[in-house]
Amino acid sequence: MSKSKSEKKIHRITLIPGDGIGPEVTSAARKVLAATGVLIDWEIVDAGAGAVDKYGSVLPEETLESVRKNKVALKGPITTPIGGGFQSVNVQLRKALDLYANVRPVNSALGITFQHSPIDMVIFRENTEDLYAGMEYEVAPGVAQSLKIITEKASTRIAKAAFEWAQKRERKLVHAVHKANIMKKSDGLFLDSVRKVAANYPDVTYKEIIVDNCAMQMVMHPEQFDVVVLGNLYGDIISDLAAGLVGGLGVVPGANLGDDVAVFESVHGSAPDISGKGIADPVATILSATMMLRHLGEHKAADRIQAALVLLFAERKHLTPDLGGKATTDELVDALIAKIKILR
Ligand code: NAI
Repeated sequence: MSKSKSEKKIHRITLIPGDGIGPEVTSAARKVLAATGVLIDWEIVDAGAGAVDKYGSVLPEETLESVRKNKVALKGPITTPIGGGFQSVNVQLRKALDLYANVRPVNSALGITFQHSPIDMVIFRENTEDLYAGMEYEVAPGVAQSLKIITEKASTRIAKAAFEWAQKRERKLVHAVHKANIMKKSDGLFLDSVRKVAANYPDVTYKEIIVDNCAMQMVMHPEQFDVVVLGNLYGDIISDLAAGLVGGLGVVPGANLGDDVAVFESVHGSAPDISGKGIADPVATILSATMMLRHLGEHKAADRIQAALVLLFAERKHLTPDLGGKATTDELVDALIAKIKILR
């Protein structure tokens, strides 16, 4: 970070545009950030299948170095081949940078929900192990094995991250989600680790819920959830379910946090079905960038973007097709920037 003549901070940030709709939604977010007047010097780097020709790798060392150096990145989604092909770049990136906490706020602040009660939860998904450890084997022809790795260390630190978040923001309740009735050793260790952390936060109520019941409760009574802490696989599935309660993947942001480095990206993937059509919803990435602004201490700019989004959604005139609207990505961004300028 350096200072300009007017003493305004310039933030140096790594940008990984990704593929599919990634370049469309990250470019939209950059325009919105620029409209707030926050100064950002973007270092644009590659990752994914497109990086192989140039660097010989889907996750070049140059990309990792850039994030390690700048400590903050905004990232678009990256496609992962199904079945064969390379291991998910997203999983590799999170492991390489030890981004252990995937934080996904899900709320009805934009007014899109089928529920009567307001929804306001923050999902803490463990990001480095579980069935995503990538330890899969063909044991014999016709028999495959995938190892679910759960450690006390990873379970403890995701629990600490969730309780710290709850305490700092005066949230009252943390739910741990598990299936320890069946996976007594692995989910049992996760639960034991969370319980030990919970004991250090007497002001935060602690509850446990089995994952299948959690899925049903979240659909029927989502208002009962506040902070939710889960392993990697349950966190992935439950956060998409939760996204569906408030307008879908087009509007839910996320952050991957380590002790030293933070990578902000929306929950959604590269959406190959709509890529290149100019209709991707950029709101999830704009909100991820807003989380990034708060991480950088730029709270005023973040407040302005959020207030402008509330106004935009109240009008319902400039929404993209995923929310039943007719606007293109660019039309939504232009309308949002006009509101940001008014809120100046
Ligand atoms: P997806 O999230 O890309 O798409 C699911 C559905 O939601 C599609 O119908 C899509 O059109 C819609 N959608 C997603 N984002 C949208 C947006 N911003 N605006 C409007 N509609 C949107 O999930 P899918 O199809 O399972 O995955 C596609 C690829 O993305 C896969 O290769 C997957 O591995 C990858 N992926 C990457 C992630 C990342 O980079 N963090 C996260 C999730 C998936």
